[in-house]
Amino acid sequence: MTDAPAKRLFIKTYGCQMNVYDSARMADVLAPLGYAPAESPADADMVILNTCHIREKAAEKVFSDLGRVRAYRSERAAEGKDMIIAVAGCVAQAEGAEIMARAPFVDIVLGPQTYHRLPEMVARAARAHDGKTGAKSAGILDTEFPVEPKFDHLPAPRAEGPAAFLSIQEGCDKFCTFCVVPYTRGAEYSRPVADILREAKNLADSGAREITLLGQNVNAYHGVGENDEVWGLGRLARALADIDGLSRIRYTTSHPRDMDDALMAAHRDVPALMPFLHLPVQSGSDKILEAMNRGHTADDYRRIIATLRGYRPDMALSSDFIVGYPGESDKDFEATMALVREITFAQAFSFKYSARAGTPAAVLRTQVPEDVKDARLYALQELLLEQQRAFNKASVGRTFDVLLTHAGRHPGQLVGKSPYLQAVHVMADPKHIGAIARLKIVSLESNSLGAVWADASESTIKTA
Ligand code: 5AD
Ligand code: SF4
Repeated sequence: MTDAPAKRLFIKTYGCQMNVYDSARMADVLAPLGYAPAESPADADMVILNTCHIREKAAEKVFSDLGRVRAYRSERAAEGKDMIIAVAGCVAQAEGAEIMARAPFVDIVLGPQTYHRLPEMVARAARAHDGKTGAKSAGILDTEFPVEPKFDHLPAPRAEGPAAFLSIQEGCDKFCTFCVVPYTRGAEYSRPVADILREAKNLADSGAREITLLGQNVNAYHGVGENDEVWGLGRLARALADIDGLSRIRYTTSHPRDMDDALMAAHRDVPALMPFLHLPVQSGSDKILEAMNRGHTADDYRRIIATLRGYRPDMALSSDFIVGYPGESDKDFEATMALVREITFAQAFSFKYSARAGTPAAVLRTQVPEDVKDARLYALQELLLEQQRAFNKASVGRTFDVLLTHAGRHPGQLVGKSPYLQAVHVMADPKHIGAIARLKIVSLESNSLGAVWADASESTIKTA
């Protein structure tokens, strides 16, 4: 095989870890066509905007970024260079036709389920640019939900560092009334067990020590294993923990309804399952939880947390909250604040409700005024931030196993992750990247913890 000519690819990723994973997969499928990463869109022969639609103004942001990319393309054209422009991800899925109409200079619009067809789309777009099929690209729109899962057609990912991501599940059938995911990502799909175990082994063989399992509804995982048995996430986690070299397993994002006994018990029995869980609750009011179609009560959430903490007393929690969902009263909001005070979170994300076109909540007439939403968000974020600071402060003086993942900003510094997903930095030789080091936390900075070796001889580094 002759080498394809070197070309540069720039991918801008918006939104969640699923998109980060998808961007890496798109880079993988384009590598055989000769595309290597570009430093900036200005240097790129191809630019992909991998978009997120979950919150408001996503589409407007994409259109304004597209304007900038188009300017880069004009600059390159003046130098006789070309550029293919693609929009991928959930905005593409939801608003593909509008993108084609409003930004006709875009060559390719593709949804999250069609990445494996990207090489063909790129070849067609390149041919159109070369003038072989006319002066201008006709624009390729591919936002189908094919029956064949895309995973079967994507190259196997390799670990790009000690902490890798592995997508095990996609889509969502829950239809929370505020959320676009069931429409943009489609029906829930779980990858077969054997494919996941194979991919995890490859990742471990190529240097991954930690794997984060990804899925919009990751704990709804129900993949087919041997003898057509259906495996849940708890069983999968146990099997993954047996893979040589894999010391840490995380998963995100989970739904309280799918936090089953087997998964909770895995947190008791499998030390590799990290004691940190992102479990969105959205609201502490039963009335609002019901209106959101979440399918559980605030007490159900409390019970899950109590069980998890019973099994794993150091379990740290993260969550997502929405304030100002239509019909949310002061009393409902107070119930959210009360739940937060009771549970205490190590970190959390909180958002003002924003109407997403096509979702049931968008047409409710009980929308909460913007200034009320602002005040509630402010109060909630103050409380959550206070809890996050307290959690991090309590880490000072403790000794953690830290997975060292990359070089820090300062010379001689390495950065890693504590079991509780806190960023930790330490002065250490780069040869320790990939090690799980026993570190003593000595300082608290705005976004990270400072550490020293728990044993000055560095002899406590674990290698497996
Ligand atoms: N408005 C505000 N926040 C939203 N989220 C999802 N949809 C909306 C919306 N319409 C938040 C939820 C979800 C997180 C990923 O984004 O909290 O858990
Ligand atoms: Fe959206 Fe609800 Fe599905 Fe999460 S569970 S992706 S919030 S519909």
